[in-house]
Amino acid sequence: MAIFRVWISAALLSVLVFVSLSPSLAEEEKAAPAEAEPSFVLTLDHSNFSDTVAKYPFVVVEFYAPWCGHCMKLAPEYEKAASILSKSDPPVVLAKVDANEAANKELASKYEIKGYPTLKILRNGGEIIQEYNGPRQADGIIEYLKKQAGPASALIKSTEDAENLIDDKKIYIVGIFQEFSGEKFENYLKVADKLRSDYDFGHTSEAKLLPRGDPHAKLPVVRLFKPFDELVVDFEDFNVDALEHFIESASMPVVATFDKDPSNHPFLMKFFNSPNSKAMLFLNFSSENFGAFKSKLHETAEEYKEKSISFLIGDLDASQGAFQYFGLKDDQAPLIIIQENDGKKYLHPNLSPDQIAPWVKEYMNGNLKPHRKSEPTPEVNNEPVKIVVADSLQEVVLDSGKNVLLEFYAPWCGHCKKLAPILDEVAISFQNDADVIIAKMDATANDVPSEFDVQGYPTLYFSSASGKLLQYDSDRTAEDIINFVKTNRDVIKLPESPESPDSHDSAKDEL
Ligand SMILES: *[C@@H]1O[C@H](CO)[C@@H](O)[C@H](O)[C@H]1NC(C)=O
Ligand SMILES: *[C@@H]1O[C@H](CO)[C@@H](O)[C@H](O)[C@H]1NC(C)=O
Repeated sequence: MAIFRVWISAALLSVLVFVSLSPSLAEEEKAAPAEAEPSFVLTLDHSNFSDTVAKYPFVVVEFYAPWCGHCMKLAPEYEKAASILSKSDPPVVLAKVDANEAANKELASKYEIKGYPTLKILRNGGEIIQEYNGPRQADGIIEYLKKQAGPASALIKSTEDAENLIDDKKIYIVGIFQEFSGEKFENYLKVADKLRSDYDFGHTSEAKLLPRGDPHAKLPVVRLFKPFDELVVDFEDFNVDALEHFIESASMPVVATFDKDPSNHPFLMKFFNSPNSKAMLFLNFSSENFGAFKSKLHETAEEYKEKSISFLIGDLDASQGAFQYFGLKDDQAPLIIIQENDGKKYLHPNLSPDQIAPWVKEYMNGNLKPHRKSEPTPEVNNEPVKIVVADSLQEVVLDSGKNVLLEFYAPWCGHCKKLAPILDEVAISFQNDADVIIAKMDATANDVPSEFDVQGYPTLYFSSASGKLLQYDSDRTAEDIINFVKTNRDVIKLPESPESPDSHDSAKDEL
C-alpha cells in the first residue's frame, strides 16, 4: 500500500515530522558538506552507540542520512534544542547516527529505520524504545522532550491544573483514583509510560476538578477526553492490555476529517494505518448541504463501527492529491469511494446525502462492481510501442493471443525515460512479426490489475501467447530484452502467419 500513502503523505507534509525516502532514489543526491563547530548533539556510531546510550536515562537519537534534505533542515533546530536541553535538570541528551554509513546499517535495522530522519527516544539506558512524534522546530522539540523526560502522568490538583492540561484540540487521558497506589494505579502508569509519546496522561483523586464527565463516577476510573464524537468516555478495566486497547480504539474518530486543519492530522495517520477498508466521502466543505452529508455519513459509520471499514470525510480543497491518485475529477464531487486493502475500489460519483447509507449497504452485501481508473483508449495507436490503458489491457495483453512485452511506467520516472528509446528499438526489431507486441502503460493514470506486481518504475512484464506471465528483471538493453522475448514467446500457428524463423531455437509451449 506504499503508493496509496503517497497522496496522504504529500498532503500532510507540512505537519508530518518525517518523510521516507527510498535509498535508491536518494543515492543520486550529493553528500552534505562536512560540518564544523563543536556540537551539543552527540555523534554516535556502531562502535560506541550501546555504551553511550547505556549511560543515560533519557537519550534521543536521530537516524539521518547526509543527503537527506529534511535532515539538513532539522539539523540547526536539533542543535539548538540540544544546547538548551543540556542545561535542563536532569539533562536531556540528543544524539545522532549516520544511518547511511555502511558500518551503521545493522544499528539502523535494529531500530527499524525506514526513512530519514527518524528520531527515537531511548529510556533506561536504551531498554525502552519509543517513536519521537513531536515537532521539528527547536521550541517545539524542547517542549515535547521536557514533557517526555518528566513523569508519564501529570498530577492534577486543581481545576486550574485541569484547564491547563485538557483542551478541546487533543486527546487527554486522566486516571481518577482514591489513592495513588496499588495494582490498578501501577498498571495505569505502565500504560501511560508505554503510550506517552502518542497521548498525554494525568491523574487525580477528584473527578469534580475535570471539565467534563460524571463528577460522582465510581472510582477508580480512566476518563478519556477527545475533541470529537462523544467528547468524553470512561473505562473501568485496569488490565494493561485492555486499557491500552481502550485508549487506541476510543481515540479513533467514527469519521476521520481530512482538511487543512493540522489538529486532525494525527487521527488521519491512524485512519490510513488501519487494516480496514476505507470509505471516503469527498465534497466541498463550504457547500450548502455539508451538514447533511456529514450527519448521514456519521450515522452510516456508527452502524458499521464494529465491521472492518473506516470512514473519512474530505474537503475538496485539501484533496487534490487524492483526486489525482484515484483519477477523479472535481465535477464528480460529492463522491464516495471505498478502497480495499488489495487495491479494489468502488465509486459513487455525484451522490446525495440520502444515497450514502444504501450505497454502503450494497457494498457490504457484495453487490457493487469495482471501479477501475483508466485513461481513455487511444484512437490512434501506431507508434512502434503500443499504448495500453486499464480499459484495453485485458483485450490487448491478456486475451490477445499474442506475445506481449508490457512496460509499466510513470511519466516522471528517469529510468523509464532512459528505457524509452531502447523499447522503441525492441519494438522496431519485431515490427514484421505480427505475434509480438511491445506496449507500455502509464501506471499512475491507470489501475494495475492484481496479477501484476508493480513496486517501482519501470516494471516490465511478458505475457506469452498462451498466457504465461513473466516479470522481466534482467538488464534493460535492447539485446537482452529481444533475446528474452525470443526465448519465452509462443509460436502462434495461424494459416496466414507462417512460422517465424526463430521458432526453432526458442523454448516454448506449443499451442
Ligand atoms: C563515537 O565514535 C565516533 C567515531 O569514532 C566519534 O566521532 C564520536 O565522537 C564517538 N562518540 C562518542 C560519544 O564517543
Ligand atoms: C468550495 O466552495 C466555495 C464556496 O462556494 C468556493 O469558493 C470554492 O472555490 C470551492 N472549492 C473548490 C475546491 O471547488
